[in-house]
Amino acid sequence: MAKEMIIVLDFGGQYNQLIARRVRECNVYAEVHPYTLTLDKIKEMNPKGIIFTGGPNSVYDDASPRYGKEIFDIGVPILGICYGSQLMAYTLGGEVKTAPVSEYGRTETFIDTGSASSDNQNTDVEVESSYISSKLFDGVSSKVNTWMSHTDYIAKVPEGFRITAHTKDCPVAAMEDEKRNFYATQFHPEVMHTEQGQKIISNFVYKVCGCTGDWRMDSFVETTIKQIREKVGNGKVLCALSGGVDSSVAAVLLSKAVGKQLTCVFVDHGLLRKNEGDEVEAVFGPDGPYDLNFIRVNAQDRFYIKLAGVTEPEDKRKIIGEEFIRVFEEEAKKIGAVDFLVQGTIYPDVIESGLGKSAVIKSHHNVGGLPDYVDFKEIIEPLRMLFKDEVRKAGLELGIPDYLVFRQPFPGPGLGIRIVGDITAEKVAMVQDADAIYREEIDKAYDEGLLKTKPNQYFAALTNMRSVGVMGDFRTYDYAVALRAVNTSDFMTADCTDIPFEVLQRVMNRIINEVKGVNRVMYDLTSKPPGTIEME
Ligand code: XMP
Repeated sequence: MAKEMIIVLDFGGQYNQLIARRVRECNVYAEVHPYTLTLDKIKEMNPKGIIFTGGPNSVYDDASPRYGKEIFDIGVPILGICYGSQLMAYTLGGEVKTAPVSEYGRTETFIDTGSASSDNQNTDVEVESSYISSKLFDGVSSKVNTWMSHTDYIAKVPEGFRITAHTKDCPVAAMEDEKRNFYATQFHPEVMHTEQGQKIISNFVYKVCGCTGDWRMDSFVETTIKQIREKVGNGKVLCALSGGVDSSVAAVLLSKAVGKQLTCVFVDHGLLRKNEGDEVEAVFGPDGPYDLNFIRVNAQDRFYIKLAGVTEPEDKRKIIGEEFIRVFEEEAKKIGAVDFLVQGTIYPDVIESGLGKSAVIKSHHNVGGLPDYVDFKEIIEPLRMLFKDEVRKAGLELGIPDYLVFRQPFPGPGLGIRIVGDITAEKVAMVQDADAIYREEIDKAYDEGLLKTKPNQYFAALTNMRSVGVMGDFRTYDYAVALRAVNTSDFMTADCTDIPFEVLQRVMNRIINEVKGVNRVMYDLTSKPPGTIEME
């Protein structure tokens, strides 16, 4: 198990998990904790370093989240980012002011290794000129584009600090006190738009904190299994298995932790892809490679009845989410004395459901869409802090076959959010057939070399638009199918995939010819943002 740990103290910024992820990418274990974590607890955790995140507040506002000077006395290196950098400056006797010019987005930044910021226009900044080199910026170019997002800035660095970077409008884009191991950047090294940001994080954990890099995904798996065992004891656990990547990884993880105390319930809500119910059963059921207690519940009718006439996407999600939980509760009652419910929630589900500080975009049924009352003692979400690619790594570590691990994601509410407008069994059949054709043709195009890589997610959706067409000599008035394909690494942002026209045409031809009720096929070109990946 990893012994080295970096604590990321969360002051409410948007990128907090991203910071932890960047540290983990350096093979050093990182955990995000709220800024209310006590000093005693921090000392007990024995971190190799601490990172203060950004946040929306101003340090001179008394109500803002903060630590006192004491945190700087525990002898652990600290990196402050954005608000965290201002907090460091303010607490240690520097000065933070509202900047005359706010900086947002990509900003040209000068790394002042070798000389202090002599071209600085701001005269109330005290600059030391004896600066030679910086562990934090070791190997980083003297001019980089960084990602800024601030209205306050450090106007005067505390005693003992040197300025190590500046921008046109920000005199202290970075500062450090090498003796005490305190480092700060006004910009966000954790976001992809900051050039060499990963190098800066890596320098902090290796060169400043002295980590050796003892964390790998196997440590996550090992630690999580141990924590689950401690939490569950002899209790019974129910896992909501959908057959998707996340819940499959969660189920196998749980099964390794608690063996037959786990029962996996697979609800076929009638909103799955074509033949998917049988495919999931083939893998996780009694004839598959895993020794799981597996229950398949065919609940199609029940879901269709609840969803009849419902058109609002958020309502559909909540209804599907609630019905899911009710089915689980019923299954749990049959098994008796089930204490824990496992869900494969991953980090993007958590932020997009607005459980962090960000606005609600969609209530993913496995998080924000949960009903107020859930009849389980506790919900276990072992993947809650991981991004999709990290979940896949964990899956491989657990020995789950590649074809399952690299499966494209499928949302919990399934085709329910791929049918725009009201849901009927006929529409489900249409979208299932169109989607199966599309996936088949993408596979074929990939095998033929027409596509170099497969899109990260691709599917057919049924629009709510009916239009006039002509087939044979007859007028039709049928539905339009929308094809979607996106390239993305984290599903938070995405680009439309450039699928060769020839492939799109093949798909269109087959859908029109083979799927009854569809007379038009469209390709959705929208990126995320401004669109989302799913159409609802
Ligand atoms: P969006 O549409 O939000 O999708 O850009 C991002 C990723 O999340 C999946 N998604 C969901 N997954 N419940 C889920 O479990 C949901 O309600 C839900 N909505 C979207 C989507 O398929 C994509 O991978």
